[in-house]
Amino acid sequence: MARQILITSALPNANGPIHLGHMLEQIQTDIWARFQRMRGHQALYVCADDTHGTATMIRAEQEGIQPETLVEQMRALHVADSEGFLIAHDNYHSTHSPENKHFSELIFQRLQQAGLIFTQEVEQLYDSEKALFLADRFVIGGCPKCGAEGQYGDNCEVCGATYAATELRDPRSIYSGVEPELRASEHFFFDLSKYTNFLRSWTHSGTVQPEVANKLSEWLEDGLKAWDISRDAPYFGFTIPNAEDKYFYVWMDAPIGYMASFKNLCDGVGQDSIDFDAFWQAGSPCEVHHFIGKDIVNFHALFWPAVLDGAGFRTPTRIHTHGFVTVDGTKMSKSRGTFILAKTYLDHLNPEYLRYYYATKLSNGVDDLDINLEDFVARVNSDLVGKVVNIASRTAGFLVKRFDGTLHDTIHDAALMQRFTDQVEPLAALFESGEFSRAVREITGLADAANQYIAKHEPWNMIKDASQQDAVQQVCSQGINMFRALMVFLKPILPATAERTEAFLNIPPLQWADAMTPLRDHKINAFKPMLQRIESSAVEAMVAASVQTPEESAAKPESEATPQYIDIDDFNKVALRVARITEAKEVSGADKLLQLTLDVGDHERQVFSGIKQAYATEDLVGRLTVVVANLAPRKMRFGLSEGMVLAAGPGGEDIFLLAPDSGAQPGMAVK
Ligand code: 2FM
Ligand code: ZN
Repeated sequence: MARQILITSALPNANGPIHLGHMLEQIQTDIWARFQRMRGHQALYVCADDTHGTATMIRAEQEGIQPETLVEQMRALHVADSEGFLIAHDNYHSTHSPENKHFSELIFQRLQQAGLIFTQEVEQLYDSEKALFLADRFVIGGCPKCGAEGQYGDNCEVCGATYAATELRDPRSIYSGVEPELRASEHFFFDLSKYTNFLRSWTHSGTVQPEVANKLSEWLEDGLKAWDISRDAPYFGFTIPNAEDKYFYVWMDAPIGYMASFKNLCDGVGQDSIDFDAFWQAGSPCEVHHFIGKDIVNFHALFWPAVLDGAGFRTPTRIHTHGFVTVDGTKMSKSRGTFILAKTYLDHLNPEYLRYYYATKLSNGVDDLDINLEDFVARVNSDLVGKVVNIASRTAGFLVKRFDGTLHDTIHDAALMQRFTDQVEPLAALFESGEFSRAVREITGLADAANQYIAKHEPWNMIKDASQQDAVQQVCSQGINMFRALMVFLKPILPATAERTEAFLNIPPLQWADAMTPLRDHKINAFKPMLQRIESSAVEAMVAASVQTPEESAAKPESEATPQYIDIDDFNKVALRVARITEAKEVSGADKLLQLTLDVGDHERQVFSGIKQAYATEDLVGRLTVVVANLAPRKMRFGLSEGMVLAAGPGGEDIFLLAPDSGAQPGMAVK
């Protein structure tokens, strides 16, 4: 019976670009969704951008645009990245949408009617300069336990202590640097405590992986506390009905975004073909599967099922949790060039390489997944191109040249072909349970058997013997049929290669069951290589393009665009001096850089500065500028740079140094 399956991956934050960590999840989800479709099920994969919260508001403010504009821009970028990785979303919506507002309000009202919402006064730190309440992560200060400076308001990265932001020593708002004050305000709470028993059994009913259930048990053991679901203005989000200046906390409306995106899909294609209520009503036989990272299981496996049940909706069928991505054994790092954005990857490499590599590593567990760049190249080149694609390239030529591209109607080695058909259901079971790495191992094992078969029969020698012509056609036809079966199994992972295979084999889109029935007496087209080997130089170029200097990293904060302030002591460490430019030279091979000699009062030094598009060398000599005099000298490709020249302007031709006649003298301190 065809199943009706709604599938989601976690909604990416609208306040930053997506990277290879996000792509792990989308690729995992997409492989699963494509597999289900090939099995003849109705599998609908929806996603959206997660738009609300303070981080979006602040980032928009920094960029001088409305949050709505930021959200639209980011969504377009995220959609392009997903499409680039061949992710076949049925819909990619936004949590800042009318559908999400509708369902957020509806769910809230139903929870209220069910007596699951109460209000309570909450004392919270407040930034009086920015006029906003501060989440714990937005307050920094000294750890109350060990005294370490610069710790966030929830836990200390030095001694590991957890505490309330109000306990920090000398707390500061990361937005304005002012000392926050305590302010009381009324908050709305969802009474999660009433759901402790429900969740104890729900989390042990096959809805989550065993290790996730164990983790959740730790939280459930002590009983759950009520969940604060409101935030005060100013906040970018939906206002709470019948409440003054209160907003739904972003984590309240984010999972509702799954429903909203699905509703938008249903409305777009017409209610007749997909029935929203059939999927979401309590007790629905349709399935809902969420794919998420292990950092957000509490939201998906505790809050979300409780909220859904409380509001009279069905709960998820299964939460599929994965681990984090590391690169070459460590956390992705901007300075090492291993914090790789989806876009940067796509600028250099074919998306199917990563889809395949991730599949070789994905299991049903929550262990972290390491991208080892050498292994990545080796796996794709030797297994995928060297073994699988090679089967077709070794056999197609003879068929096309000698037999008019027609496959024999006899199966030459039926026992071997049977090995492939015998795998149809076991491989389906591995895909179903998310054991993609085991599936790929089985598939490569079959590819090995196919290659051994071709090597044993040596069609390239048989072809020289006139009496062997029919056998050549049989052997090569079997080669093509084994290749076709492998491409059935790999199609969820390699949709573009599968499409090229379908064109080559002259067949309609492959379905899973097609692996049971080899092609006989069928005409194929000429073979064109369907996947090239990876060049290591492309991987190196991708890493080089991902390396960020400390300055760039500071300009583009790690993930959530949270502004980082330096305190006055940090500022005082920066020695700013007036300098006179005594010489300016072009740098051969550099588009933007000029080599400047600076008189800083008591000596001269050399600095490379990216102002070439704004100033001709002759205009610079004699001009005054401000220089960071105590910046550690940096070895650049063109020579040593001893300091940094400060300039203002958006860049390119619009960069401005100080005017030459400001009356300042080289060496003067500036501050
Ligand atoms: O952790 C995150 O990046 C969140 N934006 C995921 C939200 S998933 C769902 F709940 F919306
Ligand atoms: Zn500490």
